[in-house]
Amino acid sequence: MKKWKLNSWRNYPVKHIPKYEDEKELNMVLNKIKNFPPLVFAGETRHLKEQLANVVDGKAFLLQGGDCAESFAEFNPDNIRDYFKVILQMSLVLTYSASLPVVKLGRIAGQFSKPRSAPTEKQGDKELPSYLGDNINGIDFTEKARKPDPKRLFKAYSQAASTLNLIRAFCHGGFADLKKVHLWNLGYIKKSPQAKKFKELEDKIADALAFMDACGINSDFNRRLKTVNFWTSHEALLLPFEESMTRVDSTTGEYHDTSAHFVWIGDRTRQIDGGHVEFCRGLENPIGIKCGPTSKPDEIVKIVNVLNPKNEKGKITLISRFGHDNVEKYLPKLIRAIKKEGLNVIWSCDPMHGNTTKSVTGFKTRPFNNVLKEVKNVFAVHQSEGSYAGGLHIEMTGQDVTECTGGAQKISDQDLSSRYHTHCDPRLNANQAIELAFLISDEIKKNSIYARSGIRAAS
Ligand code: PEP
Ligand code: CO
Repeated sequence: MKKWKLNSWRNYPVKHIPKYEDEKELNMVLNKIKNFPPLVFAGETRHLKEQLANVVDGKAFLLQGGDCAESFAEFNPDNIRDYFKVILQMSLVLTYSASLPVVKLGRIAGQFSKPRSAPTEKQGDKELPSYLGDNINGIDFTEKARKPDPKRLFKAYSQAASTLNLIRAFCHGGFADLKKVHLWNLGYIKKSPQAKKFKELEDKIADALAFMDACGINSDFNRRLKTVNFWTSHEALLLPFEESMTRVDSTTGEYHDTSAHFVWIGDRTRQIDGGHVEFCRGLENPIGIKCGPTSKPDEIVKIVNVLNPKNEKGKITLISRFGHDNVEKYLPKLIRAIKKEGLNVIWSCDPMHGNTTKSVTGFKTRPFNNVLKEVKNVFAVHQSEGSYAGGLHIEMTGQDVTECTGGAQKISDQDLSSRYHTHCDPRLNANQAIELAFLISDEIKKNSIYARSGIRAAS
């Protein structure tokens, strides 16, 4: 294998990276970013990898979620707070009912760039370049907005930095204290069917905390009860930016992409001989690989070997996204190929990207039932293959949007237009996300016990 360099990806074909009109300006921006502080630190990334190694062993569960595409327009502290509340609530539901620690990984603080199915968009007679994410071009349907503008990278960096700053404060400043569970509820959720279930959980936790307090264990003396770890991730799509954020860790000499703790390679850019795989193979960060209906098991095996030659646990997460009615067709073969080679991976399920449909009212949507079905089918397949379904990867928001149909709120095709705000794919709203956590927690528990017992020994 050829020697890896920070810029060796430039010698390979790359897909979904825009052509900037003014290369000089792009290089000026990238050179400046090279001197910006890292957003995350190498030690944190190593810590995440250790936590992910527990997921490989069936001793923890990975919850990865956030916007499909973050936007400049939706950037405000209330949105970040509400998003964080939902992640905390989902984690609590899963931790409590599945009796497993949950590794919380946000699609946030850098999830901007998007691969698009078509390079252009047509509205009436007018055809313009597609919207590629707020760090590349604008969503307005005008020639000016759709032109890739390198200066957008400054704004995206700054948004990522302040988002992360607020989340770090929430994690360690008392907001995540288990004594404050009742404050994580979002106003509009109090009226929903999930509220009653969550209230029951709150009461059980309050009882458990009271018992522990009586035994002398409380959050005043035990940091673990009042802080949480939260990690960031995004698709490593826009390689010029990722390259400029990749730095050598002075303590080990290894390269870390400091734009996030975890990055993933999308379903459209995971070519074994492509620039995205080449770039990611030099990183120490944990890496996700999206696996869709077009991924061939032997190719995924090759990619995993290239990205993780030492077969390190926690380094690779395979994120399957086949669509609810395609899971049985594709997943078993992939699991068997990975098992045959003895590769250590986390199996995560993205029930969003294979279930996108068009509503009768013309909106891109995802029926909640199909999302749920994909997760259930994935769990069933892992159970019968003797592997551990260790993660969930979802597009969600803390806002009360109407983008995915169904769920306990029974959002209909006609309701979609009411609060459809996404810049790209439809997200689960807070109610739907928490509902999903309740509906899958029993299966996680079953699958984890199963994976940790006889099956693991036999495999
Ligand atoms: C995404 O996660 O937003 C995405 C584009 O997914 P995929 O690469 O699986 O299509
Ligand atoms: Co998406």
